[in-house]
Amino acid sequence: MKIGVDYYPEQWDKSMWNSDAELMAKTGVKLVRIGEFAWAKLEPKDGEFDFAWLDEVIQIFSKYSIEVVLCTPTNCPPLWLYEAHPEIIRIGADGKPLQIGIRGHRCINSPVFMEYAKRITHQLVIRYGSNPAVTAWQIDNELEAYHCSCDVCKEKFRSWLLDKYDTLENINETFGTVVWSNEYSDVSQIQPPTAYPQAWQNPALCLDYYRFSSERTAMYAKELAMTIKREAPKAKVTTNTWFCEDAPDFYKLFNELDFVSYDNYPPVKLPKDSEEFYSHAFHLDLMRGIKGEKFWIMEQLSGATGSWAPMSPTPQPGMIMGYSLQALAHGADTVVHFRWRTATKGAEMHWHGLIDHSNVPGRRLFEFSELCKTVSKLGVIDTTEIISDIAIIYSPDNDRAFKIQPQAEGFYYLEQLKAFHKAFSAYGANIDVVSPDADLSHYKVVVAPCMYIYKKSAAENIYRYVINGGTLIMTNRSGVKDSSNNCISEVLPTVYKELIGAEITEYDPIGSGERTIVDFAGNRFTCREWCDVLNPTTAKAYAEYDDGFYRCCPAVTMNRYCSGVTYYVGTVCNSDFYKSFAANIMKQTGIPRFKGLPDGVEITTRTNGLDDYIIFFNNSEQNATIGLPKAMYSIIDSVGKDKIELKPFDIDIIRK
Ligand code: GAL
Repeated sequence: MKIGVDYYPEQWDKSMWNSDAELMAKTGVKLVRIGEFAWAKLEPKDGEFDFAWLDEVIQIFSKYSIEVVLCTPTNCPPLWLYEAHPEIIRIGADGKPLQIGIRGHRCINSPVFMEYAKRITHQLVIRYGSNPAVTAWQIDNELEAYHCSCDVCKEKFRSWLLDKYDTLENINETFGTVVWSNEYSDVSQIQPPTAYPQAWQNPALCLDYYRFSSERTAMYAKELAMTIKREAPKAKVTTNTWFCEDAPDFYKLFNELDFVSYDNYPPVKLPKDSEEFYSHAFHLDLMRGIKGEKFWIMEQLSGATGSWAPMSPTPQPGMIMGYSLQALAHGADTVVHFRWRTATKGAEMHWHGLIDHSNVPGRRLFEFSELCKTVSKLGVIDTTEIISDIAIIYSPDNDRAFKIQPQAEGFYYLEQLKAFHKAFSAYGANIDVVSPDADLSHYKVVVAPCMYIYKKSAAENIYRYVINGGTLIMTNRSGVKDSSNNCISEVLPTVYKELIGAEITEYDPIGSGERTIVDFAGNRFTCREWCDVLNPTTAKAYAEYDDGFYRCCPAVTMNRYCSGVTYYVGTVCNSDFYKSFAANIMKQTGIPRFKGLPDGVEITTRTNGLDDYIIFFNNSEQNATIGLPKAMYSIIDSVGKDKIELKPFDIDIIRK
């Protein structure tokens, strides 16, 4: 595992470059990411390039044996480019051009912008592609499924639709434009979604527009990656991603890139409400699952965050080290901290790095240097992998469709995935978060929450898994929509009826209202947001509602189907239900449970085939003690121990 930092040499006086690199090397930094937003410095005038300063920076880092991740600076075109080609500016959903002076405001579909983006990328790769100091490349920054309504995007979207549906009649039919007299008589009438809340707009159009934008973003990343690889075929290329409102389809985005990288800003203020999900373990597992491989953190929490919003509290002692090692536990093999020193100028001056404005190294840099020392002892983990018995399916289409049409007050797609993730994690299980098309055959348990939008390959994949003996958990809002985001005119959960062995006779979107369910053993749990009323055909009730007009109707069912079993959770419950449910499922499927883990303590097991390493992370503000069944060797403290004692955000790793 390597630890690095994000650095913006162009923002500092050049007299600081050497001392910064020297201190980085002394601290244990192995890699630096540079060049992300520096287009104007690299190409001050159209076609006039200045690489002298970057040559010098890279030279300084190689002197200190610090590897360089070089970025295409394409997130921030220089002002001369906007002046010469105003058509490259992104047009917002309100039909107005974004203002210059910010970032990310270029239209990635503009052919003119693309020519310039490829030219600067090409210039960078012919200069540095064979430089041994440059070990990886980052495309742009935090690419999104951008909304742009410029003429180019509109045309491309219309052709994309015609390509998909062949005729305008088919588009009208699929979008149901007959509703509210929105029939298109000419393709030019098709517009991307507007600034109105999407819930007021055509759901089929909105979902297709998301798919279109996601595809375009992936194509953009691929085209720049190809520009790099044509000159430097061995270059390792990525882009840094994150969870944002317009999160792209991660699977598509990284399909053509060499590895996944993620910007990881876990919370500095832990929620008081124990029902709130705060652990980034789920996000990290999702990032690992995109390619089913190790990934990088390209930006890691280093100080108080702010700028776009009032500043957060500063990371508590232990968080800089602990959150980095939590990422390692879940499969990150490189963690790059954002940023070395806090900017003194520009909009981001309150998003803190490891060193404050004063440039006086303080507590956070000290903790970071301890992290570098700790990581230097963890070489043995590098060759291990995470093998999971449990998978949770994440689908970008479903995620988006629920954003387009919220289902009930408080109902969020990711919440249900996280509820299961948290429940299985409470027993120390490794969990993969995977695509609906992933190979599921080796999992003992697969959770497929809210399979809302129909996708043939996903439905087949799930059926195949159960037919071959798997244990599947499905939840409410499954089988609701066809692949175009229209409701299916069949009894719910439509295509999954047979698999779950039950029909939904009615549903009640209770939102913040509450109901109670009672499981087969008489345990009572509170549920909220959504209640499916189930009528079993072949299934048996696992839990029933205990109040409301559907009292005594099943809320959770279990169905044997071919060689497998399918559970269906028709409601959304408080965490005690998921914990009890997960325990039963693990018992049934023979997945070992680590019992008595204190709240907030997370376990990940990594193996090299010979030895297992158990990583304990205390993701809580309380001290925690965990008894071990026998004395085991800690590779952090180099001693044998029969109990693990962790301060808040501490980590320990034992060899089993
Ligand atoms: C990230 C972004 C960085 C920086 C950071 C802190 O989202 O990639 O460039 O802006 O947030 O603001």
